[in-house]
Amino acid sequence: MKVTFAQALPSSPRLVARLVETDKLPADLPVAMLQGAEASRFSGKAGQLFEGFVESGGTVVRLALAGAGKDNGSSRVTNFEKAGAALAARYLTSGETVLALDLTSSKASPREVAAVLLGLRLRSWRWDAYRTKLKEEQKKSLGEVVVVGAPEGTEAEWQAEAAVATGVEFTRELVAEPANVIYPQSFVERCQARFAGSGVEISVLDEDEMRQLGMGALLGVAQGSARAPKMLVIKWQGGKAGAKPVVFVGKGVTFDTGGISIKPAAGMEDMKWDMGGAGAVAGAMLALAGRKAKANVIGVCGLVENMPDGNAQRPGDVVTTMSGQTVEVINTDAEGRLVLCDAMTWAQKEFSPKTMVDLATLTGAMMIALGVEHGGLFSNSDALADRLAAAGKASGDKLWRFPLAPEYDKLIDSPIADMKNVGPRLAGSITAAQFLQRYVDEGVEWAHLDIAGMVWADKPGATWDKGATGYGVRLIDTFVRDTVEG
Ligand code: BES
Ligand code: MN
Ligand code: ZN
Repeated sequence: MKVTFAQALPSSPRLVARLVETDKLPADLPVAMLQGAEASRFSGKAGQLFEGFVESGGTVVRLALAGAGKDNGSSRVTNFEKAGAALAARYLTSGETVLALDLTSSKASPREVAAVLLGLRLRSWRWDAYRTKLKEEQKKSLGEVVVVGAPEGTEAEWQAEAAVATGVEFTRELVAEPANVIYPQSFVERCQARFAGSGVEISVLDEDEMRQLGMGALLGVAQGSARAPKMLVIKWQGGKAGAKPVVFVGKGVTFDTGGISIKPAAGMEDMKWDMGGAGAVAGAMLALAGRKAKANVIGVCGLVENMPDGNAQRPGDVVTTMSGQTVEVINTDAEGRLVLCDAMTWAQKEFSPKTMVDLATLTGAMMIALGVEHGGLFSNSDALADRLAAAGKASGDKLWRFPLAPEYDKLIDSPIADMKNVGPRLAGSITAAQFLQRYVDEGVEWAHLDIAGMVWADKPGATWDKGATGYGVRLIDTFVRDTVEG
């Protein structure tokens, strides 16, 4: 979606949109629009839309009213985002190619206008790469938004938000791609291509290097797959030289069959998005670099495929992690924690972070607990948990905190090794977090985000169509903006 700015409306616009920011309709509307909106019970509530056709100077214009007004529980900025998203949802395949957003009598601030544009961009994203037989009326038609009469400062505000949109779109692309297209090597290559010229530094550990480093847990997961594992590192140094970085670690299981503890066939195709944590980290790094964030941030993606095979690891196998701790692999389907533990050990050794946050589609139990409205948050630091929860609320990528405690921790003790990779059935998301906590170094503030329910949507939401949501990018971006940048 192209966004341009103009002083006046295009000479013969076909489609014009106006924002309705309060529950009062603008007085300068043509009478048919006013009465039509009232008759249709359009009140300007966020996300509501009313459309009519008006005659102006001999031509007929399609006029849309997009509600950005009060909607209980949402912030003012979120309401503007919903207005943009509603316009995109309505006109994406309408046949219209250009939408003129007429702000000449609007009171929206630059930040609010940028929110409208962000909503428009995010809601109009689709992944049509493999749909070769779309009918004309199913194809995307809307390709450009002309913003007319925006307040001073809107373009700068939009530039930063556009970088965030680009990051969200990249995450969605990685998540939406099937596992025969995106596997560890191709995930790395997609990133190398996308980050070219962005100012980040990319490095990759291959299987031999990981073996030398002693990453026995990650390699144990990878050994049943024909695809070699990779550890991808994306470094953005926009902050003070020498300032300790914040590190984000993503679970990148490009397909999770469960391994020898194989999953049932029904719904297994969903496990192409078991790399959603790594996808969020990559997209967030693209956003931060794109808007030149004044912070030192490192993204680490542990990329593997979990397959059953003659060489796959067996239930009962004992592996030695890079930390030296040993793990009895009771269930090969609890593979995410085995990937993350070695990625986290390595990231702490390599970068001495002050703060480390991991994102992972870690447990089905998290979806049972929270559904698709919140990601689960676990942390060894109340201060960090509060900052993340606040970023979640502000960005719309919401989080809800769960406990950690020694009583849960002892549930993963093993009689043959230092720990087992699964606990009993109860509290499955918490014991998974306890497992990860055993790999956090003294003095590091750490949080684990279990985003299993968040990366894929079965139905359209406010700013996404069904499919990949891009969850996590705006969360990380807001967290860095509000609590890391000075
Ligand atoms: N990737 C899954 C978790 C998952 C399941 C995410 C469904 C999204 C939807 C993870 O690797 C897994 O299989 N976890 C197991 C853990 C169990 C074996 C302790 C689970 O949740 O069933
Ligand atoms: Mn699994
Ligand atoms: Zn998994």
